[in-house]
Amino acid sequence: MADLYTVADLRLSLADMTAKPIFGTAPRIEILKGLSFTIPKGAVVGIVGGSGSGKSTLGRALVRLLEPSRGAIGFDGSDITHLSETALRPMRRRFQMIFQDPMSSLNPRHRVGTIIAEPMRLHGLDAIPGRVARALDHVGLPQHFAARYPHELSGGQRQRVGIARAIALEPDFILADEIVSGLDVSSQAQVLNLLERLVADLGLTLAFISHDLSVIRRLCQRTIVLHQGLIVEDRPTAELFATPKAAYTRELLEAIPLPDPAQAWG
Ligand SMILES: Nc1ncnc2c1ncn2[C@@H]1O[C@H](COP(=O)(O)OP(=O)(O)OP(=O)(O)O)[C@@H](O)[C@H]1O
Ligand SMILES: [Mg+2]
Repeated sequence: MADLYTVADLRLSLADMTAKPIFGTAPRIEILKGLSFTIPKGAVVGIVGGSGSGKSTLGRALVRLLEPSRGAIGFDGSDITHLSETALRPMRRRFQMIFQDPMSSLNPRHRVGTIIAEPMRLHGLDAIPGRVARALDHVGLPQHFAARYPHELSGGQRQRVGIARAIALEPDFILADEIVSGLDVSSQAQVLNLLERLVADLGLTLAFISHDLSVIRRLCQRTIVLHQGLIVEDRPTAELFATPKAAYTRELLEAIPLPDPAQAWG
């Protein structure tokens, strides 16, 4: 299978927001410390790691909300590492990001239909009403939800709107950052089922960031484990659960609460 993403020695430093220099600028700290991996077209890849391991920073680099300091990111054969915003513009609809908290990413004063339409307007797409209707359909929301406001929806419904807005652009790639973390268990299961179906039906490539290994296990064929800005493991998910190699992966696995304490992973 052809690769959609080719990431080579990705390094990324940010100005340290916690430092308060009296003179000059804040020192830079390296958050991603040399990551290399590929994401084949059509793959569902999990990215796991503890808080502060660099998952969101990696996600933001992949969709070029952040610019790498060194290394290279290739997207479908193009080098996007240092592309300017102008050069990125026509490509942006091809890689979409969905965030954890749909309430903060959905404009509370806009109706669902407007929210889903907005990125399509920005990208100059035509026949928007039809696209909004299809997007609602894809995520299993009735058409009359287009007239609702975000506060009138449940958490799971809001997350569906976030997904509808992303897939309405017909992207090749979706980066989902902790998108089920704030949901109760049954809404989580519904959103995960939906994602599985969309990946299959729309031929999407998905990177799914989560600190929850049980969610990753269910959704992702392959898992990348991040720890302190480095990849400590990158293997098929089933193998990773059966025979974790890195000590850090074993720690993460041991931290999963088992439904039945007598049952072991594997
Ligand atoms: N602008 C910034 N200035 C300083 N440090 C930052 C900045 N942005 C992120 N960091 C630090 O970089 C590290 C990685 O952050 P990141 O948000 O990518 O982690 P994460 O794996 O997504 O964590 P979480 O699971 O909590 O979402 C953290 O230690 C974070 O504090
Ligand atoms: Mg994060």
